Amino acid sequence: MRQKIIMDVDTGVDDSLALLYLLASPEAEIIGIASTAGNVPAAQVAANNLAWLDVCGAADIEVALGATEPLAIPLRTTEDTHGPQGVGYAELPESARALSPRSAVEMWVELVRAHPGEIVGLCTGPLTNLALALRLEPRLPQLLRRLVIMGGAFNHPGNTTPTNEWNVHVDPEAAKEVFDAFSAAPADRRPLVCALDITETIEMTPKHLTLLAERAGSFPVETVSPLDPPHARSAASNPIVRHVTDAVRFYFDFHQQCGAGYLAHMHDPFAAAVALDAGLAVTRPATVDVELAGTITRATTVADWEGMWGREPNADIVIGTDPEIFFERLIARIGDFARERYPAQ
Ligand code: RIB
Ligand code: CA
Repeated sequence: MRQKIIMDVDTGVDDSLALLYLLASPEAEIIGIASTAGNVPAAQVAANNLAWLDVCGAADIEVALGATEPLAIPLRTTEDTHGPQGVGYAELPESARALSPRSAVEMWVELVRAHPGEIVGLCTGPLTNLALALRLEPRLPQLLRRLVIMGGAFNHPGNTTPTNEWNVHVDPEAAKEVFDAFSAAPADRRPLVCALDITETIEMTPKHLTLLAERAGSFPVETVSPLDPPHARSAASNPIVRHVTDAVRFYFDFHQQCGAGYLAHMHDPFAAAVALDAGLAVTRPATVDVELAGTITRATTVADWEGMWGREPNADIVIGTDPEIFFERLIARIGDFARERYPAQ
């Protein structure tokens, strides 16, 4: 039985890898993709999702458009991190696929009602549309089999302000509503939270892209380098490898400019891998809440690990993993998928 998954993404470079990881995983059945404003505006997120489905020769998967703005504050996007269209230097052919006639919120609610207890929700962007879906269907925590969230930072610096992480920063009100809504969830339904604490240990380097090209039977096998000229683009024979390489190269450049080194934190595909196999993660329960009123701490996620607030845990926070196991899976799955979709000539 394949695992039904709703993806809620702000595609983005690492969201793209999360989508490819699930498309390449036979045990995953993506039954809907919600396009949430974040890295880039919602319409661009949706266009990126449709375009990746074309590149991957994927079956018709519903892609729904989400809210254009966060719940309470104006949208902030981050093209400097993910590129002008959100897919780095990749230039994905525009898709002719149609967007879903229903909104992302309607899709969330109608799918969980149609498949009670079966769906794993994977959120790798701001939680705007999930929060709106919870307002429409308060039973959603009971109707989902599990929720996996990429977001937050706990005992770890933020990546957007000193204390907060991008997805929560874009829509902190939504994040609070989601964590509050899961406060009554039983232990086996608590959201699995992949925060920066763990996702910033998932460091993709040029070596991983080289291994991916080799696994896909793509040629030439390239080694992306910070010494490449700024206009360098992949000449890989395999379109999936080529577009992934161009997308990630931008992300490498961004991380190097931030002083993190010539690497890329693969936040979202790690969360996707956990959504398929929670055994990848060591977790610890905590009560999570989101600061909304702080002047310099607004949008900070706070974890009460010891029950100091007298509230039940509402999250299982990932505190450990083996990044190499993750990268072995990512390279094998996407590499084999790319080879199968575009057999080496
Ligand atoms: O903070 C990292 C998260 O923000 C990732 O999901 C990235 O895609 C951006 O959405
Ligand atoms: Ca994302």
